[in-house]
Amino acid sequence: MRERPVITIDGPAGAGKSTISRLLAERLSFIYLDTGALYRAVAYHLIQKKYSVNNEGELADLCRNIRVELNDLAGRLHVFVDGEDVTLKIRTEEIGLLASRISAVPVVREVLLSVQRDMAAAGGVVAEGRDMGTVVFPDAEMKFFLDASVRERAGRRCREISERGERASLRDVKNDILLRDRQDRERSIAPLIVSPDAIHIDSTDKTILQVVDIMMGVIQKKGNAQEQGKKCP
Ligand code: DC
Repeated sequence: MRERPVITIDGPAGAGKSTISRLLAERLSFIYLDTGALYRAVAYHLIQKKYSVNNEGELADLCRNIRVELNDLAGRLHVFVDGEDVTLKIRTEEIGLLASRISAVPVVREVLLSVQRDMAAAGGVVAEGRDMGTVVFPDAEMKFFLDASVRERAGRRCREISERGERASLRDVKNDILLRDRQDRERSIAPLIVSPDAIHIDSTDKTILQVVDIMMGVIQKKGNAQEQGKKCP
């Protein structure tokens, strides 16, 4: 039994999951668990080691020996791979696509499944990814699925990239998103699907704060209903 709830937020690339999950975790004083960062960290390490994505043996070896840590430093989540801070290095489109490819390999998911469950063992977590509500935390107390149109998601990604001082064309970013959507939705193991008990939110025409407010409203309503249930058995 967990001491505190687990809240899951699943959805495709660029739907706003990271920022929204971080803000929601802040409001609730929960831990923010960015599971995409774990897959990105493995992808980064794969490139460093010059291993092949097609060699399952090498991938298994890498996953079993890699030490990935997510640490909060001054209110920001930092990702460490074997002690190296890779927070910014793993945010490229190349690493995102590779992370999506390796995430379809069973051994990678198997190893990261226990890492994720260990990180959320005590609860009090907002866990964000593709299979949080369906596979990793099927018993989560509250589940959300966050989506947005491809056009909007590509636009947001482009703005993020230019804020980092880099350049990318909207067309290339849109194509990367479509490819990643296909890989993440069509893989046979833990594909991106909407959990039947998840609340679906389309963020296309909403600001980040509007989405956070909607989620907070749903969480508070559920909390109130549970309190009422306790008073009137
Ligand atoms: O959320 P992100 O863009 O950082 O995730 C990168 C890739 O990692 C994503 O395209 C698919 C994979 N991933 C996954 O398969 N399962 C998760 N729970 C999180 C991410």
